[in-house]
Amino acid sequence: MHSNVLHGNVCLITGATDGIGKATARELARQGATVVGTGRNPEKTERVLAEIKRDSGSDDVNFLLADLAEMDQVRALAAEFRSRYDRLDVLVNNAGAMFPTRGETVDGFEQTFALNHLAYFLLTNLLLDMLIASAPARVISVSSDSHRRGKINFNDLQRKRSYSGWGAYGDSKLANVLFSNELARRLAGTGVTSNALHPGLVATNFFDNAGIPPMGGVTPEDGAETMLYLATSPEVEGVTGRYYVDSREREPVAAAQDMDVARRLWDVSAEMVGLGE
Ligand SMILES: NC(=O)c1ccc[n+]([C@@H]2O[C@H](COP(=O)([O-])OP(=O)(O)OC[C@H]3O[C@@H](n4cnc5c(N)ncnc54)[C@H](OP(=O)(O)O)[C@@H]3O)[C@@H](O)[C@H]2O)c1
Repeated sequence: MHSNVLHGNVCLITGATDGIGKATARELARQGATVVGTGRNPEKTERVLAEIKRDSGSDDVNFLLADLAEMDQVRALAAEFRSRYDRLDVLVNNAGAMFPTRGETVDGFEQTFALNHLAYFLLTNLLLDMLIASAPARVISVSSDSHRRGKINFNDLQRKRSYSGWGAYGDSKLANVLFSNELARRLAGTGVTSNALHPGLVATNFFDNAGIPPMGGVTPEDGAETMLYLATSPEVEGVTGRYYVDSREREPVAAAQDMDVARRLWDVSAEMVGLGE
C-alpha cells in the first residue's frame, strides 16, 4: 500500500485530525512523504495518528498540537516544527471553521479571522525561510467558493459592527486568496509557489463543528483531491498565484485579484500578529 514517490519530502498539514486535512495527510503518507499534521485535542490527535499510520502503511507520520486560533500557539507550533525538522517541502494551510456567533480569541481577535486567516498568515511567515531553503517548495491555502461573497472591510475587520457566521467566513476565505496571491508575488523567483483552492462541497465535520445541519457533499477523500494535486502534481511545478477548483485553474472573484487590497491586508495582518518586515 505504501509507496515511495514522495520519499524525503516533508509535508506540514494543519487541521489533519479530520475532514479533508486528514484525507490529505493519509494520502501523502501513503505516497511516502514525511507527514506532520496538526491537531488541537490530544486524545483525538493520538487516535487519528494511529489510524493514519495503519491506513497508509507508513510510520513516518507525526502530529504537533496547537489551537491555531491563538497566535502564541501558532508561534509555538512553528518553533516546535523548526526544532524537529530541517526542511519543509509542502505547507498546507487547511484548519478552518465557521462560527455562527461572534467570539473573540485570547488575543482579542474575532475568531473566524484569527483561525481562518491570521493562523495561515503567521504560520507561513514563520516557516518562510525553511520553505525557501527547501525550494522547490509549495504553499497551499484552502479557501472556499464562499470567498465570492466575502468583503475586506478595513474599517471593521473584526466585524464588531455587524456579524454573521457565513459573512465572516466568506471574508476569511477571500482573505485566504488575497494572502495566497500576495505570498506568490513576494516569493517570485524563490522557487516557492503559493496557490489557493476550493475543495468542493465536502461531507465533513465542518457543519457539525459549526452547529449547523449537514449540507451533503463528496467524501473527504474526493474533497482532498485538489489539495493533493497542488501538493504533488508535476503539472503545477512552478505555477504560482493561482486558484484551483477540481484540480483545474479557475478565476477567483475580482476582489480576490486586487493586489492593492492584498498588500494592505498583508501589512495590517503583520501588524496585528506583531510580525516586522
Ligand atoms: N467541507 C466543505 O464543504 C468545505 C468547503 C469549502 C472549504 N472548506 C475548507 O476546508 C478546510 C477544512 O475543513 P473540513 O471541511 O475538512 O472541516 P473539518 O472536518 O471540521 O476539519 C477541520 C480541521 O481543522 C481543525 N481545527 C478546527 N479549529 C481548529 C483550531 N482552533 N485549532 C486547530 N485546529 C482546528 C479540526 O480539528 P478537530 O479535529 O479537533 O476538530 C480539523 O482537523 C477549512 O479551511 C474549510 O474552510 C471546506
